[in-house]
Amino acid sequence: MTPYLLLVNRTHPLTPDYIPQDLEEPRIPFQAPPGCPKRLLRAQAAQAAEELFEKARQQGLSLWGISGYRSYARQRNIYQNSRSSYVAPPGCSEHQTGLALDVSCPAAEFDLTEAFANTREYEFLENYCPMYGFILRYPRGKEKITGYAWEPWHIRFVTKIPALYLSFSNITLEEYHQL
Ligand code: DAL
Ligand code: ZN
Repeated sequence: MTPYLLLVNRTHPLTPDYIPQDLEEPRIPFQAPPGCPKRLLRAQAAQAAEELFEKARQQGLSLWGISGYRSYARQRNIYQNSRSSYVAPPGCSEHQTGLALDVSCPAAEFDLTEAFANTREYEFLENYCPMYGFILRYPRGKEKITGYAWEPWHIRFVTKIPALYLSFSNITLEEYHQL
């Protein structure tokens, strides 16, 4: 199966040694400084993110990357230092795939909170993500299926046709894998 449809969640963890070999930095605005692993995505996701962010820019919007790739060890540290239900246990975060990206914008003060959903940048993501191969991975109302809280800021690269299919059918990656 294509790696771009890889399912990672609380019941489908990755092993600690899962490290994508084609990580690179997309040329998009990031809060993290150059060289920070948070700026990394797998090559095809990085290219798609550049195109998505450029489209947003052309519409006068200001999308920023906050957090992309995260290693197993980094996820373990975050998890150990947090009690938030938003945080995935080590191995259970799809940020380890290099296919997930948390985004925000100045209007949401670069935060990863539900307030991001009130911005024009979020509205843009709802409309344009699928055409660039991304899905909004943790929708409101699907928490029991995904195992994670509503996260309007978390987008996931799955390539274009699956992204269009998932969004038009209003199904999550979990439901897709059960079909
Ligand atoms: N917050 C998401 C679920 C993660 O840690 O991957
Ligand atoms: Zn995320």
